[in-house]
Amino acid sequence: MDKKNLSVGVDLGTSNLLIYVEGQGTLFNEPSIIAIDKATQKVICVGHEASKLVGKNHEKFDVVRPLQGGVISDIELIREILIFTLNRIFPSEIQSIQKLVICIPSEITNTEKEAIVKLGHSLGIQNTIIEQEIKAAALGSGIDIFAPRGHMVVDIGGGTTDFGILSLGDVVLSKSIKIAGDFFDTQIIDHVKVVHKLEIGLQTAEEVKILLASLTGPYPTNDDDEEMVYEAMGRDLVSGLPHSVLLDAKEIREILLNCFDPIKSVLLATLEETPPELAGDLVDSGILLTGGCSQILGLREYIEDIAKVPVYLSETPLTAVVDGCKKLLKMTNKYFYSEV
Ligand SMILES: Nc1ncnc2c1ncn2[C@@H]1O[C@H](COP(=O)(O)OP(=O)(O)OP(=O)(O)O)[C@@H](O)[C@H]1O
Ligand SMILES: [Mg+2]
Repeated sequence: MDKKNLSVGVDLGTSNLLIYVEGQGTLFNEPSIIAIDKATQKVICVGHEASKLVGKNHEKFDVVRPLQGGVISDIELIREILIFTLNRIFPSEIQSIQKLVICIPSEITNTEKEAIVKLGHSLGIQNTIIEQEIKAAALGSGIDIFAPRGHMVVDIGGGTTDFGILSLGDVVLSKSIKIAGDFFDTQIIDHVKVVHKLEIGLQTAEEVKILLASLTGPYPTNDDDEEMVYEAMGRDLVSGLPHSVLLDAKEIREILLNCFDPIKSVLLATLEETPPELAGDLVDSGILLTGGCSQILGLREYIEDIAKVPVYLSETPLTAVVDGCKKLLKMTNKYFYSEV
């Protein structure tokens, strides 16, 4: 009996790793973080477990992200995180995988793509296919990317903001900028340091962003309809003692508006370079926003004001890529996949 019966889709993101198994659903959706034993180089844990160790300096292990700024920091780490996670999902059944679609950021080089395909082959998966994240995200958000009309997708994730023009199943034009969620977090850290003389950690900065971030319109409010504030705990830079300050949504908006200036420039450059027929299509088809940071309040209106075409949000910004993988796995025709 042929035991090669599993089809698997992977969204290998800077912040999150998602793994979908045909017929079984999304079986892994956790941070793309890995903890390695320094002495043995063996993986200790991945995902949520590893993320609990972030910022907690430890002499026995390293806590690392295999992708940084949408770029592979170390292909060996990609190998480790995939093998460890796949083994956790299907103990001793990796050899049952017959088809693997891995979605990666658009800036990854051909050499890195080849290395990922080889990695699949080394696991015994001959049918290992690399797909562009932006294409899978559009498909997973319900766009008919194979139709003869232009569509635009902007994916604001953890490491990169990716811009893509799609038509007839292909990415006609794409651009990427290393300004996304991680960068917003570091800018919040810098601001709190300079303005409030408080040193805060990355996880605190991320929480501040998720709760207070907005770009236009009303500031986020709590259940009592009051404008949100966040008590950020950290270390006072003057006294060196634990301390906290109250951050408000107004100051976070100022930080974000600065961060979005380069995103705005790349958006305009992408629109300017879009072939005229496809640009014309965008008047109706609009721009789809996806990725975790597309949930920032007022982003839709902010982009609409720049692009002057309808802008809409993916209903599943954090799972759109893996949802796209699900659809791609169903297509047996290799023509539909991007060339490596
Ligand atoms: N509600 C929210 N508001 C703002 N930002 C959010 C929200 N939820 C998640 N994020 C941010 O979204 C980012 C993660 O998004 P996503 O999972 O799409 O990234 P990724 O696919 O791993 O990264 P990339 O595609 O850049 O490699 C993180 O920076 C996270 O803090
Ligand atoms: Mg992503």
